Amino acid sequence: MGHDNHLDLPVDDVSAERLAADGLRLGLLDPSDQQAYAAWSRAESRGFHGSRETSEAIEQRRTYVMSRRITGVWDASAPLPDEPVATTEVWPADLTVPGRRSVGSWAISGVTVAPTHRRRGVARALLEAELRTAMAHGTPVATLTVSESTIYGRFGFAPAALARDLTIDTRRARWTGPQPSGRVHFVTADELLADGLALVERVRLETPGQIAYDGILWDRQLGLMIGDEDAKKQRFIRYDDASGQLQGFASYKLTANDRDFTQHRLDLLHLVTATDDAYAALWRFVLEMDLVSEVRAHLRPVDEPVRWMVSDFRAVQVAELDHLWIRILDIEAALGARTYAAPGRLVLGVSDPFGACDGTWALDVDTTGAATVTPSNEPADVALSVEDLAAIYLGGVSPVVLAAAGRITGSAAELEQMFRSPVAPFLSIWF
Ligand SMILES: CC(C)(COP(=O)(O)OP(=O)(O)OC[C@H]1O[C@@H](n2cnc3c(N)ncnc32)[C@H](O)[C@@H]1OP(=O)(O)O)[C@@H](O)C(=O)NCCC(=O)NCCS
Repeated sequence: MGHDNHLDLPVDDVSAERLAADGLRLGLLDPSDQQAYAAWSRAESRGFHGSRETSEAIEQRRTYVMSRRITGVWDASAPLPDEPVATTEVWPADLTVPGRRSVGSWAISGVTVAPTHRRRGVARALLEAELRTAMAHGTPVATLTVSESTIYGRFGFAPAALARDLTIDTRRARWTGPQPSGRVHFVTADELLADGLALVERVRLETPGQIAYDGILWDRQLGLMIGDEDAKKQRFIRYDDASGQLQGFASYKLTANDRDFTQHRLDLLHLVTATDDAYAALWRFVLEMDLVSEVRAHLRPVDEPVRWMVSDFRAVQVAELDHLWIRILDIEAALGARTYAAPGRLVLGVSDPFGACDGTWALDVDTTGAATVTPSNEPADVALSVEDLAAIYLGGVSPVVLAAAGRITGSAAELEQMFRSPVAPFLSIWF
């Protein structure tokens, strides 16, 4: 099955029946129904403790989500029966895997359960429904970014791409990196709309963990959503190489320190580059900003080179977080989609109580790094859970470390040699 029919698949019977037994209705929401979408959207914002949105903001958002599969759970006995008590939305998003390739993923977002209906299995019913529907769709993996890292392990998800937050003391961080010959220019969000997205697309396959954007993911980064108060402060810059070609862009916002005007804070919101020159020029630009004493950059790759481009290593403080969570649904397709760092054959014993990947699988990698995965009756060389398989899938989490943590048993060193990725996996956005 392809990417286009995700809207046509019916709701999952198993979860629908389970919820019906509790007096609740699992259903799909048609976003062309303006009022129904508004009620769904209000429930979702409240679920994330967001502020009440204006009708205009909801209406704008609705135009972006027409191709998303939007699910809700309704309670006919509630005083506002049109407002769902649980929400989620999904869409097919290509996920980059090692080898400059991509695999189809079921991107899951907007998972909320109303505080009036929490902890009675509604989220479990919703999540399991999404996993079974993704499998019916033929999508090999599901992806999420999470509010809390305690929720999704039980559904077979694990963090496969980590991220770092940087806090840089700019008084200590004198630039010692290259000084490229291209130019940095200010631009508006509108000027970046088409060119910036083209650049994002140009570099997407370079980094495992990146997903293809659908409309809202990009426009939101540009501050184009109605009601986005922070957008007023957002500034955009682009880097053009010596021949005038766009090779990178960044956005940031400044916050004043009321007591000392020389101590502004600069938050680097996004930085996307296609060349080392663009990377150096844009970082230098933000680090050398007058009246700024601190630069904070949220959600940066774990292998960020900027630490090696300033005079004081400790001027760059780093905090690490889990970011992209993955759930493998079709082990043959998922493992077959990526390439591997070393040839070999390993028999994997995978435990998956949900059933999707449970079993013994032979992974054969040829000398080009391409793999085939087949069911096997041989004894397993390595035993791991489906979560651990997800964690190592993009090559960013070390099987040797997971073995040391008591999670993987058997040939972890061989697994490591095969699965490692020369580029650390990274996802540059929340979704
Ligand atoms: C997280 C949330 C969706 C859970 O909904 P829920 O309907 O209460 O969850 P369920 O009753 O289906 O719980 C399913 C399982 O997850 C566990 N669980 C649920 N929320 C959890 C949490 N926040 N932390 C740890 N475990 C949690 C439950 O204990 C239960 O465990 P078990 O089935 O293994 O015994 C809900 O609390 C919520 O809307 N939170 C605010 C918004 C949010 O953070 N959404 C997640 C976005 S990524």
